[in-house]
Amino acid sequence: MSFRNISKEALAGSITLGVVFVAGYFIGKKKSSRMSIFKSHGAGKEDPLLQYVLNHSMREHPVLKSLRLRTMEDSGRMMMVACEQSQFMTNLAKLIKAKKALEIGVYTGYNTLNMALALPDDGVLVACDISEEYANIGKPFWKEAGVEQKIDLRIQPALKTLDDLLSSGQAETFDFVFIDADKVNYDNYYEKSLQLLRKGGIIAVDNVLWGGRVINPAADDRDTVAIDKLNKKLHRDTRINLSMLTVGDGVTIAIKL
Ligand SMILES: C[S@@+](CC[C@H](N)C(=O)[O-])C[C@H]1O[C@@H](n2cnc3c(N)ncnc32)[C@H](O)[C@@H]1O
Ligand SMILES: *[C@@H]1O[C@H](CO)[C@@H](O)[C@H](O)[C@H]1NC(C)=O
Ligand SMILES: *[C@@H]1O[C@H](CO)[C@@H](O)[C@H](O)[C@H]1NC(C)=O
Repeated sequence: MSFRNISKEALAGSITLGVVFVAGYFIGKKKSSRMSIFKSHGAGKEDPLLQYVLNHSMREHPVLKSLRLRTMEDSGRMMMVACEQSQFMTNLAKLIKAKKALEIGVYTGYNTLNMALALPDDGVLVACDISEEYANIGKPFWKEAGVEQKIDLRIQPALKTLDDLLSSGQAETFDFVFIDADKVNYDNYYEKSLQLLRKGGIIAVDNVLWGGRVINPAADDRDTVAIDKLNKKLHRDTRINLSMLTVGDGVTIAIKL
């Protein structure tokens, strides 16, 4: 693997969020060492500590790397998950021997591909998005990596797919869920995912720090309000144990009890 490319482009690939995040970054939040890795996603390669983290931990499948580089050419590239976060989540999935996973918000399918690679041959990843166009960027890479048969892509509103899964008797059968689509529906995604999840299964909720806006949400910012509300709810939710991590744009790992 080329570290030169990692330092140059993975950092771009580490940008998790989107325009909202970058805007948040340039508004100029207070600096703290705690947040330095997280903040670096807006500044990319200027953060040597994040570069150090990537240099010393990334083990990217060659096709995954190709998809990351292809995604960096897309105008929506800032929506892509941080590559080090994706690697962490696939490590978690393997740790719990996940066979059945769900991804809510696929975009070009970087994490979809990574998760499919982590699942066993008879594993299944139900991948939800409303944009066939974005998914079409990823599909050839899923095929090239030989895991396309594990990916069950459903192009329709994710809530509809979750309801379909529940009504077809798949409650308590999923091992791992990644929630990463429209923020106003986060609580609905969480509640339905929790029903779909088996005991000991994991839900990863992305963008829980939302570029830092969660500590000072504007009342009319529906996305920030929705994220902050869910963060508060998860903290006191006795159905799960949790960790809120500052990787990427913040990810909460919830384990179903
Ligand atoms: C942040 S991106 C997902 C990034 C992806 N998980 C990755 O690893 O790169 C969010 C995606 O959610 C999709 N989305 C938005 N609203 C949706 C909805 N109601 N149902 C399903 N997908 C939706 C968007 O089309 C977009 O592709
Ligand atoms: C990361 O690796 C690149 C390429 O080897 C190198 O140029 C850079 O100095 C490294 N940075 C850190 C902080 O390790
Ligand atoms: C959940 O956390 C509590 C402590 O807060 C601990 O006692 C318990 O063992 C944990 N359960 C699991 C399944 O990790």
